[in-house]
Amino acid sequence: MIIVLLGPPGVGKGTQARHLAERFGVEPVATGDMIRAEVAGNTHLGQEARSYIDSGNLVPDDVILRMVGERMKNGTSGGFLLDGFPRTLAQAEGLERMLLEYGQQLVGVVSLVVPEESVVERLSSRRVCPVCGRVYNLATQPPRTPGRCDDHAGSELILRSDDAPDTVRHRFSVYNAQTRPLVDWYRSKGLLSEVDGLGSVDDVLGRVEAVLRA
Ligand code: AP5
Repeated sequence: MIIVLLGPPGVGKGTQARHLAERFGVEPVATGDMIRAEVAGNTHLGQEARSYIDSGNLVPDDVILRMVGERMKNGTSGGFLLDGFPRTLAQAEGLERMLLEYGQQLVGVVSLVVPEESVVERLSSRRVCPVCGRVYNLATQPPRTPGRCDDHAGSELILRSDDAPDTVRHRFSVYNAQTRPLVDWYRSKGLLSEVDGLGSVDDVLGRVEAVLRA
């Protein structure tokens, strides 16, 4: 079972993925988190990807497809929730090949929709734990102790390097040019559900769960 979460930067994909993976018994695969782990580990892939991620551009398709392919090859009994992948038509076609190869089925593509101005506001107050990647929001989902992760008390929350306002605007234009076409592509395949991403995290979760269980 494979579920895809689509949507522009900051729309809430990572936040929802954490809850949905638990509810549906699938494993979250977030390509952004995977790349940031490579950058933090200063691996060869991380060195290659750093400039793309910091500037808000997409990491080349072949790098991403290799990374996700490795993850899917190792398999899991429940399936995967893909957060931030695919992001280009070439990646979507690559995913189709992987589904055939590993005998998995794409059961739904959820596209979260939030107006751009709300997303820019969300990202300016997003903070993340550099140890576990848990996402907070100073306005709507603050940590219990200011500036510290609830799960790793010693870890100071940080602002992501690509959350600077100019980079956020660029990430939006990249989304519109390269990823938004996938909305129509998946719609034409009868797999797409568009879900309003405004409201509380629980409200949005309820909407997403409803379309995936329909
Ligand atoms: P990635 O990490 O995937 O970033 P993104 O897609 O831009 O999405 P974000 O992580 O910024 O936001 P989100 O939608 O997960 O929102 P979140 O839940 O955090 O990718 C980063 C980079 O990696 C890319 O730019 C690219 O360089 C590279 N990359 C990754 N995948 C790639 C691929 N497939 N191909 C090529 N390159 C790739 O929420 C945001 C904030 O809002 C948080 O503070 C949260 O607490 C808050 N929030 C969430 N929900 C709500 C709500 N309902 N109400 C109020 N606040 C909320």
